[in-house]
Amino acid sequence: MKVLVIGSGGREHALCWKIAESLKVSKIYCAPGNGGTKEIAENIDINPEEIDRLLDFALKENIDLTVVGPEGPLVMGIVDKFNEKGLNIFGVNKKAAQLEGSKAYAKSFMEKHNIPTGRYRKYTDIEEAMKGLDQFQYPLVIKADGLCLGKGVVICNTKEEGIDCLNHMMKDKAFGMAGETIIIEEFLEGIEASLLCFVTNGRIIPMESAKDYKQIYEGDMGPNTGGVGCFSPNPLFQEELRKIVQEDILSKIEIGLEKEKMDYKGLLFIGLMINKDKAKVLEFNVRFGDPETEVLLPRLKSDIVDIFEKTLKGSLKIEDLIWKDEKCVTVVATSKGYPGKYEKGKEIIGLKDVDEDIIIFHNGTIEKEGKIHTNGGRVISITALGNTLKEARDKIYKNLNKVAFDGMYFRKDIAKID
Ligand code: AMP
Ligand code: GLY
Repeated sequence: MKVLVIGSGGREHALCWKIAESLKVSKIYCAPGNGGTKEIAENIDINPEEIDRLLDFALKENIDLTVVGPEGPLVMGIVDKFNEKGLNIFGVNKKAAQLEGSKAYAKSFMEKHNIPTGRYRKYTDIEEAMKGLDQFQYPLVIKADGLCLGKGVVICNTKEEGIDCLNHMMKDKAFGMAGETIIIEEFLEGIEASLLCFVTNGRIIPMESAKDYKQIYEGDMGPNTGGVGCFSPNPLFQEELRKIVQEDILSKIEIGLEKEKMDYKGLLFIGLMINKDKAKVLEFNVRFGDPETEVLLPRLKSDIVDIFEKTLKGSLKIEDLIWKDEKCVTVVATSKGYPGKYEKGKEIIGLKDVDEDIIIFHNGTIEKEGKIHTNGGRVISITALGNTLKEARDKIYKNLNKVAFDGMYFRKDIAKID
């Protein structure tokens, strides 16, 4: 089989790495890929949102399966376009992608189908939104409706911060159209968990749980990022909570998907806030998480191509997902300044010097004349399996000293919970 992976991050490197394990696969392409995918796939110079070019490429090269990494092309309707031409593509259709593409749509879906989530109000008028600030206690959360590359969620501790944020989003149009509609949401206390699920034939089939580290600094301080560390499984996610999530959340989403006639086929990533024995939904994503994918796929024993094919056919069962008992941790090394402004083009040294049982997924790198350079805010994810989280974590921190680039930064407290 020939497989095309769309995207250029650590998630796509991990997908290519896992797909390469499948005996069914003879060739992998990655569009546009990065310095890491280049070692296992042929990088193709097409961006994820150039849907017509991707379609032409898939038709010309007789691609048997396309796997979509980022949300952008899903929200733009890449899956509908590929399906019209009879091509196999793993990802959700345009209608279903609204669950990530519009936060207001996702919240109204949750409200309508009784899915536990924080209280919220939607606004399209700045004056009304300003008044809305008084309807919530502080901290509160303001979210731009549309896609904002992970920057559209702001936690406001005071009314002044709320006013500044609304001006930024709605008056100054910092996120363009994405911020024309906003929601104000109640702040939820607790510990976050990421639950990635395959969805097919009206059923939600969860993977193992994960825990993402969103803030840039140790102790969960500083601004939010796309995720700078992760581990799986999330110890919060014991049998009892799994049952509660199944009954209170997954079953209700299944009913909602059916009632809304979504024909949801692909991945659903549920961001949860856990407080004692209660779980509420923070957000939906309609794609694999990054860095969640970097810790989930190394734990997956099953052939991922088989899973993709069964999802598309509607025959996937929970038994098809077989997991290793080992735990997995990843620490993301970032460029100085991220998630704000940062420089690119710094040479990365030592990538080949790490121990054999370390996996390095590239998040934002580019290969030039045999050398790997930084090409993003998140640069590389150093990943390891271990019998305990501590074992995996110790391996990573021991090896992180062997890799270097100018301005390299990483959190030292990832998976430090045992
Ligand atoms: P979202 O894109 O909606 O997941 O938001 C990104 C991050 O903002 C989440 O992973 C949380 O860390 C935080 N967040 C979002 N909504 C809330 C909320 N209602 N209460 C507390 N934190 C939140
Ligand atoms: N790590 C969170 C995300 O992929 O959205």
